[in-house]
Amino acid sequence: MSDASVRIVEVGPRDGLQNEKTIIAAVDKINLIDRLSGCGLKSIEATSFVSPKWVPQLADAAEVYAGIHKRDGVSYPVLVPNEKGYDRAREVGVTEIAVFSAASEAFNQKNINASIDESLQRFEPVVSKAKADGVKVRGYVSTVLGCPYQGEVPLADVVRVSKALHDMGCYEVSLGDTIGIGTPGKARAMLEAVAVEVPMDALAVHFHDTRGQALANILACLEAGVRVVDSSVSGTGGCPYAKGASGNVASEDVVYMLHGMGMQTGVDLDALIATGNWLSTLLGHDTASKVARAAG
Ligand code: HMG
Ligand code: MG
Repeated sequence: MSDASVRIVEVGPRDGLQNEKTIIAAVDKINLIDRLSGCGLKSIEATSFVSPKWVPQLADAAEVYAGIHKRDGVSYPVLVPNEKGYDRAREVGVTEIAVFSAASEAFNQKNINASIDESLQRFEPVVSKAKADGVKVRGYVSTVLGCPYQGEVPLADVVRVSKALHDMGCYEVSLGDTIGIGTPGKARAMLEAVAVEVPMDALAVHFHDTRGQALANILACLEAGVRVVDSSVSGTGGCPYAKGASGNVASEDVVYMLHGMGMQTGVDLDALIATGNWLSTLLGHDTASKVARAAG
């Protein structure tokens, strides 16, 4: 494992900022994304073309996407919940989208006002259009280790939704512990169950750090073979429709752990720490990254 490379999917500009009380200006979001690509990150989730009534923090999605400096070799996926979101994204030239469903019915209703099956049906025309347009599609499954409304989430439901998204044409499916409730053994067992139906190299893991388990969960999943990890600079964010969800695992902490294990990420850790500190100042709170705090 020590010489492996891991792709970090930086979700701070989307998953991070969607849940911040402070709404920052589009120009600052653009600056954040450009700084992140300058750190060597190759996948940066830029924003969401969801309903601005549901997520006002990202109402400026078009302006932000249009304003970022698109570096060669960097992808800038955006969240899209329906055809309307897809069309808005395409108007500003988006070339990669992410569709999102959940393994729990209760959460899906709260988050996108649809059942699991309704959401999958809603994505069919989106994915067909994307295929025709040569747009890449990533998929998310939320609440893979527990739901704030339903409690336990059966593994079979996680597997079913993950397989449905992969079969539909998602090149990668990110498995989201939306409320940071998982522990390493459960996280690994969940990943391995999904990997029976979806190839491991088409899977990513997405941990929120509500209970301080995220790095341990990531390590358990790396040991099981996953090589794509979602994280958020300075550990910002959470989901506004998941009660109790705190920030994602901090990108700085993930990169520090991976480099310490001899794994490659292509990310300049010092530049990432500086970017996280800059963002924290802008948001008016301390970074959640322990590595950044230790660096002073
Ligand atoms: P709805 O209210 O059922 O939508 O919301 P609707 O189709 O009935 O339309 C209502 C109004 O919204 C209409 O406008 C539509 O045009 C408009 P009106 O006629 O009232 O003026 N509308 C839109 N406007 C702009 N862009 C759009 C759009 N769609 C409809 N795309 C909907 C359904 C899916 C739109 C809504 O529930 C929504 O936007 N939800 C998004 C919630 C969200 O972003 N949650 C956070 C992301 S998921 C997450 O964080 C988890 C993840 O990180 C992984 C993990 O951690 O597990 C990915
Ligand atoms: Mg998330």
